Amino acid sequence: MGTGLHAPILDWYAVNARDLPWRRPGASPWAILVSEIMLQQTPVARVLPVWTEWMERWSTPASLAAEPPGEAVRHWGRLGYPRRALNLHACARAIVSGHGGEVPDSYDRLRELPGIGDYTAAAVASFAFGRSHAVLDTNVRRVLARTVRGEQYPPKATTAAERKLAESLLPTLSAPLWAVAVMELGALVCTARAPRCADCPVADLCAWRLAGRPAYEGPQRRGQSYDGTDRQCRGRLLAVLRDAHGPVPKAALDAVWADPVQRERALDGLVADGLAEVVGEGAYSLPG
Ligand code: ADE
Repeated sequence: MGTGLHAPILDWYAVNARDLPWRRPGASPWAILVSEIMLQQTPVARVLPVWTEWMERWSTPASLAAEPPGEAVRHWGRLGYPRRALNLHACARAIVSGHGGEVPDSYDRLRELPGIGDYTAAAVASFAFGRSHAVLDTNVRRVLARTVRGEQYPPKATTAAERKLAESLLPTLSAPLWAVAVMELGALVCTARAPRCADCPVADLCAWRLAGRPAYEGPQRRGQSYDGTDRQCRGRLLAVLRDAHGPVPKAALDAVWADPVQRERALDGLVADGLAEVVGEGAYSLPG
């Protein structure tokens, strides 16, 4: 089931793939690992400048590992979900201490690194080392939900059935190319809210389209509201710490968010997550 998807999607990708630097032949495993962590919750256009800066600054795990974790947070800029910066820093140190500075080349070894989940391990094993794994990111899951299962959206969290389906679809040749091609189709054509079925290479085979594009019937999907949230508050506070090259008095943090209850909660959260440190009397900084 579904293998008729291979040729049209691979052909479509050959013509429509974006030229992204982490997809170029010379991209190092480290460059690919950093890109996959950045891309997980952030669109390509926002990742590009930050990834480029990171690669210029830290072209190897060893160069990042030599810095304090706060530098990773500082140069994370406004990508959001900044714990990813700490995870990458911890990853770099684990790669240096446990793997001689080289990104490990198998799914199982990658999975043991701090902050590397199933998706990232599969993506790096595939894209950096040419291995064959089901790479289940949100775009891939949506494409398979529609084309094969006939559903508008995949379940909230990845299920065993999705994994089994994705594994059954792995081509014998060039699984990594298949993974990135499906990902790209989901990003450019089979998008979440306004799919462009007229431009889709598998529209004629797509179970969801053939069923008349029925609306999703599962549980309510969470919107990504941001204004006024603790996440926004944390982002404001962290921006102050990033821009100050040294300890910041509490008053400077108080100035960027009016609601004191939310502000204290956000600040405590940053400290608890290791993204900020208390230094001396009522001052804060990035982690040293
Ligand atoms: N190319 C390789 N991995 C990617 C990803 N996660 N998002 C977009 N493009 C990619």
